[in-house]
Amino acid sequence: MTIEKVGVVGCGLMGSGIVETCARAGYTVVVREIDTACLQKGLDRVTKSMHKGVSRGKLDQEDMDAALACVQGTTDLTALADVDLVIEAAIENMALKQQLFGQLDQICKPETILASNTSSLCITEIASATRRPDQVLGLHFFNPVPVMPLLEIVRTFQTSEETLETARAFGESLGKQMVLARDMPGFIVNRLLIPYLLDAVAMLQNGLASREDIDTAVKLGLNHPMGPLTLSDFIGLDTILFIADAMYKEFRDPRFVAPPLLRQMVLAGHLGRKSGRGFYDY
Ligand code: 3HC
Repeated sequence: MTIEKVGVVGCGLMGSGIVETCARAGYTVVVREIDTACLQKGLDRVTKSMHKGVSRGKLDQEDMDAALACVQGTTDLTALADVDLVIEAAIENMALKQQLFGQLDQICKPETILASNTSSLCITEIASATRRPDQVLGLHFFNPVPVMPLLEIVRTFQTSEETLETARAFGESLGKQMVLARDMPGFIVNRLLIPYLLDAVAMLQNGLASREDIDTAVKLGLNHPMGPLTLSDFIGLDTILFIADAMYKEFRDPRFVAPPLLRQMVLAGHLGRKSGRGFYDY
């Protein structure tokens, strides 16, 4: 099967990056948000990011205009009826995702592949809301999507070979490098990343070093582009807590227990860049 038209559900940080990446690869993209205000905000994010690409010489103005012309926004899920692939990037809530996948299963044509960008929820459980679990898989992108070269493909034991092949060809057409993981919370990257970020928070909580020194140590000692606390603010502390809790629930491994400091910061609304305040002020 060849993908020509892509549906994206959710135009937040990840959804808008996915829309941009697909449109720049020449796909027709229909993106659905819950209301016009959220949709406009998401589409503005796509335009702003493309402008940045142009200003950095990564994209021609002509290609930007052509890509933007490929994007159609909607608040109506039925507008996704004729897409070949749906990538769901809604909030991390199983009940909501199951409801969405159940609806998409009814709305979309029989051959449509349904993918989730979830970072920690069980794809098999999401797929159980559909009558096509062999056409459901995980496509896990990394933030910022247009810049990060990796795409994790997540297969359940029901995902068909044909679905995987189509997803691989699609990922390649986006210029992504792909890795294949089984349906376990965190897949490959977050399974390694989350305990590392939690350790950095615990280090700060326990007074081992200052936030600046923890970040500087990793940036200069390991050549990472960002230290762990800057990266946590970038990802969102609520997202990290959600993934850590999901991983602990599944594995009962103390490596995934969130330090109280992280939980308290989330409760206080200090979510990182998105709220203007996290380990640093923005
Ligand atoms: N289109 C194309 N290219 C773009 C672009 C766009 N819209 N926006 C930026 N770029 C390019 C820039 O031109 C630049 O390219 P160059 O190095 O060839 O000049 C490059 O991207 C970096 O952009 P900036 O110069 O604006 O920014 P920085 O150099 O400060 O890098 C960063 C920013 C890419 C975010 C870098 O700090 C980084 O890689 N940080 C780590 C990000 C990370 O780890 N992400 C994964 C998070 S985990 C996740 O997402 C999974 C989830 O489940 C938790």
